[in-house]
Amino acid sequence: MTNNGFRVAVVGATGAVGNLMVKVLEERNFPVSGIKLLASARSIGKTLPFRGRQFAVEELAENSFEGIQLALFSAGGAISRIFAPIAAQAGTVVVDNSSAWRMDPQVPLVVPEVNPRAALSHSGIIANPNCSTIQMVVALKPIYDAVGIRRIVVTTFQAVSGTGKRAIEELRSQVSDIMCGREIARQIYPHQIAFNCFPHIGSFLDNGFCEEEMKMANETRKIFDDAQIGVCATTVRIPVIYGHSESINIETDRKISPEEARELLKTAPGVIVIDDPSNAAYPVPLNAAGTDDTFVGRIRTDPSVENGLAMWVVADNVRKGAATNAVQIAEILLKSGRL
Ligand SMILES: NC(=O)c1ccc[n+]([C@@H]2O[C@H](COP(=O)([O-])OP(=O)(O)OC[C@H]3O[C@@H](n4cnc5c(N)ncnc54)[C@H](OP(=O)(O)O)[C@@H]3O)[C@@H](O)[C@H]2O)c1
Repeated sequence: MTNNGFRVAVVGATGAVGNLMVKVLEERNFPVSGIKLLASARSIGKTLPFRGRQFAVEELAENSFEGIQLALFSAGGAISRIFAPIAAQAGTVVVDNSSAWRMDPQVPLVVPEVNPRAALSHSGIIANPNCSTIQMVVALKPIYDAVGIRRIVVTTFQAVSGTGKRAIEELRSQVSDIMCGREIARQIYPHQIAFNCFPHIGSFLDNGFCEEEMKMANETRKIFDDAQIGVCATTVRIPVIYGHSESINIETDRKISPEEARELLKTAPGVIVIDDPSNAAYPVPLNAAGTDDTFVGRIRTDPSVENGLAMWVVADNVRKGAATNAVQIAEILLKSGRL
């Protein structure tokens, strides 16, 4: 650390998440004494703002991490697999937003409201979970601690920003093409996303689930450090730009009423309860977009199992689901002197 902060690199700084990581570092006043913005050769010549100044984007290279104390990675799994160990070897602490290291037993997988202490055991790389997992475990943690959870059935309604900046562009141009009576172009998704939805996020696996669904199951078990929780996920892409929504049904070890769950969630860190359905008050992605909280509503008894509870959970996937969670992990390291 220099007198006024840490030298920080953002890998993938021109992307949907990386760009926001730079903004969140600024918003949360993270002690940054120098910032290095890294992306591919395509971004050479671009500049990005940080604290009122423009910084040139540099091409990611093996020597990019010399003198860097913290690197926030968000340039995809292939880049993280190669460059996160190079950075860690150079003495940089990496918070990685890709799926490359999440299930590595040596790498902590951290949601600050849920398992902050796990971050302290890092050996150079800490993984940020999948966006859909983060908001689900933030909402379920208080209930897990109070009455135990043995099974989770979740269906997601995921925004296109979860696929990156080119997917946002694909939705916008398809909407405008359809409204103008033009042929649509499709490059990112297997189907038209405008005015449509499909239960397909990531590749399909031999067990019939897609990758996103298995990430939610495996990451939840790792974060709760509970190999016994059953998780069945169906992940759906919808034509929303920012904000993932989730319909969650849980089976708890001991019974919990909707009132008790509401009271627990009202005081839980990072959670806001909006639950007055008769007045149309429940979380929606347009309201969650641009915030860092996880919003919970429609809390009700699930009568189809003995100890069942159902709820609706919404959060901004690029903020709490990615950039904010990564910066919060860095803040834990800062407070504990592990940076
Ligand atoms: N979006 C979300 O909600 C979300 C949530 C959780 C996790 N993630 C994960 O975060 C990562 C990035 O997602 P994103 O949505 O931000 O994607 P994105 O908008 O497509 O941005 C990708 C970033 O990676 C950079 N990049 C690509 N190839 C590179 C290379 N060879 N060398 C250096 N930089 C390279 C791009 O730089 P150029 O601009 O130069 O191409 C860009 O900055 C992915 O692993 C994704 O799974 C995303």
